[in-house]
Amino acid sequence: MSTIQDTAHRSGATALGGRGIHAVPTMPILSLEGLRKTYRDPMTLKPFTAVDEVTLELERGEIFGLLGPNGAGKTTTIKLLLGLARPTAGRVLLEGREPREPASRSKLGYLPENPCFYDHLTPLEYLDLTGALFGIAPAIRRRRASDLLERLGLGAHARKALRKFSKGMTQRVGLAQALMNEPRLLILDEPMSGLDPVGRSEVKALLREQRAAGVTVLMSSHVLAETEPICNRVGIMKQGRLVEVGTVSTLLQSGVREWEVAVEGMSDAVAAPFRAGGHDVERIGSRSVVRVRNGDSLQDVLRQMLQAGIHVHSVEPRRETLEEHFVRVLDGRTVARGGRS
Ligand SMILES: Nc1ncnc2c1ncn2[C@@H]1O[C@H](COP(=O)(O)OP(=O)(O)OP(=O)(O)O)[C@@H](O)[C@H]1O
Ligand SMILES: [Mg+2]
Repeated sequence: MSTIQDTAHRSGATALGGRGIHAVPTMPILSLEGLRKTYRDPMTLKPFTAVDEVTLELERGEIFGLLGPNGAGKTTTIKLLLGLARPTAGRVLLEGREPREPASRSKLGYLPENPCFYDHLTPLEYLDLTGALFGIAPAIRRRRASDLLERLGLGAHARKALRKFSKGMTQRVGLAQALMNEPRLLILDEPMSGLDPVGRSEVKALLREQRAAGVTVLMSSHVLAETEPICNRVGIMKQGRLVEVGTVSTLLQSGVREWEVAVEGMSDAVAAPFRAGGHDVERIGSRSVVRVRNGDSLQDVLRQMLQAGIHVHSVEPRRETLEEHFVRVLDGRTVARGGRS
């Protein structure tokens, strides 16, 4: 747990006190402390721990990615932090309040995993209902609803019944309703699900916009290539536990997989000893790329190249991607866990 002082330090909050500068205790926007959720099989009463000792504090204005294979406990964690499920142990605080207090959720936006709506309503009517539930005045909620539908590319479908919406369109309505109350904290369970590539890049742009406006985002995702460029930090869940948390660059820092040495005009005869030394050599036009798998060999390869008078164009470390890191952390096990066995 961080102290009030270092929380204030991270948010940059200071104020002039009587005799000097004092840290102002700012509440973390979301904190999870030793969170656990154990389900019991209704027949055998055998316990199953879906979320185990999860401790996490979100920093204001960050996009945090919650990653993990099917059944890792992401949705259960999200339900606990929204007050939709009760923790067996541990505590959730939203800006210092318990999630079951309605006031704690007034500036919270939520996109559930598989959103489904009253399908006889149009998106305009549905967003109006959402706005009314948040107590937003009619004129403001009507304007917000139509602005959001435009922003999410649904302007032309604003008066069509939701039952006629495709999966991706429904997902966009889900995002619109999550933004109706102009939240300070956005919780998105699989926001990229069902979206085409254009939709995914629009959602990324939307999330960056929200972050720039000071909104904190927690999103779960399986689409790691989409998560990597937008998340400030990610956490990897495995069998209910948060096994790793950090910035994408920190997690991937130690993960240099190989070095790509690009050289000009290397004949096959000159390339032969490198191939014989176990390095892949790929010819692309007049240029060749030699892939070297460890740092010691890299020094030898470069020395041999310079001695042979080969022009070295570049040496680039190839780091592992978030997806490769994720699979490695899970030891290659990405199969779903049974909940009730
Ligand atoms: N209401 C429930 N009763 C019993 N077990 C449950 C319940 N909800 C979830 N579980 C179990 O808890 C585990 C975690 O489920 P959860 O939905 O949190 O996973 P997830 O990480 O969101 O997976 P996915 O990526 O597939 O959405 C699973 O094994 C699931 O079967
Ligand atoms: Mg889930």
